[in-house]
Amino acid sequence: MDLFIQQEMLSLIDMSIKIGKVLFKNPIITASGTFGYGTEVSSLVNVSKFGGIVTKSITLNPREGNPPPRIVETPSGMLNSIGLANIGVDQYISKKIPLYSTIGTNIIMNIAGTTVNEYIEIIKKVESVSSNIVGYEINISCPNVKRGGMEFGIDCDLTEKLTESLRKITERLLIVKLSPNVTNIASIAQSAEKAGADAVSAINTVVGMSIDIHKQKSKVYTKLSGLSGPAIRPIGIASVHKIFQAIDIPIIGIGGITCGNDVLEYILAGASAVQVGTSNYRDPGIALSMIEEIKLYGEKYIISSISDIVGVVSSNTK
Ligand SMILES: Cc1cc2nc3c(=O)[nH]c(=O)nc-3n(C[C@H](O)[C@H](O)[C@H](O)COP(=O)(O)O)c2cc1C
Repeated sequence: MDLFIQQEMLSLIDMSIKIGKVLFKNPIITASGTFGYGTEVSSLVNVSKFGGIVTKSITLNPREGNPPPRIVETPSGMLNSIGLANIGVDQYISKKIPLYSTIGTNIIMNIAGTTVNEYIEIIKKVESVSSNIVGYEINISCPNVKRGGMEFGIDCDLTEKLTESLRKITERLLIVKLSPNVTNIASIAQSAEKAGADAVSAINTVVGMSIDIHKQKSKVYTKLSGLSGPAIRPIGIASVHKIFQAIDIPIIGIGGITCGNDVLEYILAGASAVQVGTSNYRDPGIALSMIEEIKLYGEKYIISSISDIVGVVSSNTK
């Protein structure tokens, strides 16, 4: 066979994936809180090439977030305690949603609240306006706020109640973002699935702490904060593996992804898609190179569709 035709055939790897009713052109999505509102870097990076963008957590009212210092570098990672600084849902609707009409990729709005009613109110406000947001990621796993967030994510009943309430008010994609700071992440995933979530994403940051021995105080104002970056990748992959055994809805893998090989580890463990977080600080276009690396892997191992390899490592123990 002509070498050119052969190469064309080999590069026909279907990178698209479906989560709920939503089609993603590829499985690489940027993670909440690490890519702003999705529009900030569009002059530097062709964001339309991403499978999707998850915006930073939006709350009912604007939040300043926690006092500084709220970020510190750690071995193979970083600690953050931003505390959900954001402009609040009303400004998000008036200032950010209109910018998405030409963005060319799937926008997933991440929301956070302190009560079930707060989450409901945010979604109702967004549902009442016209937008091309494809869905919501429900942050029930933020370790850096005093009330709400992780309180839901560590409790099966609260997770179920919240997901059920939100399922009733939107037909858009509903993704529940899980915390690794629990005894049994799979059981929380099962509660989200039972209550009608279309997918779960895992993991949010891992609770961590770092101390300045000379000042004899925590390097982060809130003392405890959230660890992200390569240091947490094995925790993320193990979480996806455990969740894959327990549920049938898609999983979006998050935690410490730096390159295409890391993405593939997550996919083989059971993730249908992934989110890239901390790596965006090094290079906001880093996720684009991952897409190309996965295509090369597909060519090497003659994989016709990325969804063919989802969970192959975990499924033999399912
Ligand atoms: C500075 C920073 C801010 C974050 N803000 C949010 C947020 O607003 N909402 C949320 O659900 N997750 C937030 N996260 C968590 C990330 O979305 C992601 O789950 C976590 O960082 C693990 O992925 P990574 O190791 O690729 O960064 C934040 C992470 C970082 C580093």
